[in-house]
Amino acid sequence: MSDKPVKSQDTLALVTRSDFPEDFVWGCSTSSFQIEGAAAVDGRTPSIWDQFCQQPGKIRDGSDATVACDHYHRWPEDLDLASQFGMNAYRFSIAWPRIFPDASGTPNQRGLDFYSRLVDGMLERGLQPWATLYHWDLPQYLQDVGGWENRATVDAFLAYTEVVTRHLGDRVKNWITHNEPWCTAMHGNWDGMHAPGKQDFKAALQVSHHVMLSHGLAVPLIRANVPAAKVGIALSLHPLRAASDSEADLLAMQRHDGLRNRWFLDPLFGRGYPADVLAHCAEYLPQISSADVDVIAAPLDFLGVNYYFPETIASAPDNPPLHTALKEIAGRERTGFGWEVAPDGMRELLQRIAQDYPAIPIYLTENGSSYDDQVEADGQIQDTARRDYFIRHLHALHQAQQQGVDVRGYFAWSLMDNFEWAEGYLRRFGMVYIDFATQQRTVKQSGHWFRNFLHQNAVSPLDMT
Ligand code: FCB
Repeated sequence: MSDKPVKSQDTLALVTRSDFPEDFVWGCSTSSFQIEGAAAVDGRTPSIWDQFCQQPGKIRDGSDATVACDHYHRWPEDLDLASQFGMNAYRFSIAWPRIFPDASGTPNQRGLDFYSRLVDGMLERGLQPWATLYHWDLPQYLQDVGGWENRATVDAFLAYTEVVTRHLGDRVKNWITHNEPWCTAMHGNWDGMHAPGKQDFKAALQVSHHVMLSHGLAVPLIRANVPAAKVGIALSLHPLRAASDSEADLLAMQRHDGLRNRWFLDPLFGRGYPADVLAHCAEYLPQISSADVDVIAAPLDFLGVNYYFPETIASAPDNPPLHTALKEIAGRERTGFGWEVAPDGMRELLQRIAQDYPAIPIYLTENGSSYDDQVEADGQIQDTARRDYFIRHLHALHQAQQQGVDVRGYFAWSLMDNFEWAEGYLRRFGMVYIDFATQQRTVKQSGHWFRNFLHQNAVSPLDMT
């Protein structure tokens, strides 16, 4: 695909809902820490992210998520919005520190009751609940004894999974064990951009192995507790380009692919950890038993794919452990966050998964963009770039489907602006604008478009009513 930005008028005609199957799953994704707030309400205790936010310099605007979108109190309004958009599904995550606020092993009924009400609220509005068990908010008391580096956290995750699935499994059928294990491991423990903020590659690999092990052990547990469960995991995956045709750059791209994509995909699909990554990272490897590798390969019902951007990779001999570097190619279209906009990358990625890991139903569990939204004098938010981002990516998704990829659903990131991790409130990804001072919600142009799209109305970007 060319790098030329697509003109807005051209995008509107690209897709309609009727291009997708009748039973296609349409939703949006959120996560507990990013939206709930109510940090100390009903017995919740701090997660690693609460602690991380307290450390000077970790969050770009110095903010935290003690209030965030106050979703804990405002969820009926938020679910109303999702259902008014015409969605039939809603992806959310459960805050582990609400369920097990301390190490005593006693679940907190008030935390369970909150999610029970939330799930009932979804069902009342025709939204199929898609629950993520771990979207990065590990209880701080577990981090205090080593967090995911400590194998005991795997047991704690299973105890938490057991209670949550028993409690909600009569109503929640779609379960995602982990959101983006790459980020949990690498941002959390290698580059230190995310909680707990370590910078230790060996620790990061240990964390990734325990996270994947906890996933594999949770799969049969969820199936045992939830009649007719569908269980998957949401990976952050990236199509890759080599910075040049040189052999060095092509090999660098392979190495990067190994850790970025195959390190997670291969063991999930029964191939064990990729041999090239094991070789390149030999001096950093955690203890991995062959029994663990079998556990991680527990058959999945679906694969969740979070797609945001492709990456361009160059050889970098001075940059251990992989001797690779990310290249920013000038002139590429980018979001306000600087993430490359490449709808075709989504199609390419989906085709690659279908080819390399056949026969697994795929759900796009996250896709979206951040731009610097401005509230106009009349109170409207004309986020045309975000609207077009959605349209162009849905078009790419449709193309992938036509080429035979088994994609069954699309979850936009995100319903509303929220706490964007290390960027605090500086990055808005929502189809709904949040005024964080007043908690007022305003549907953006992209949200109006989505609603029109899902209701199969003639698409008029000017119809803001
Ligand atoms: C993903 C995360 C999600 C959100 C988006 C923008 O990596 O899963 O929580 O922050 O990026």
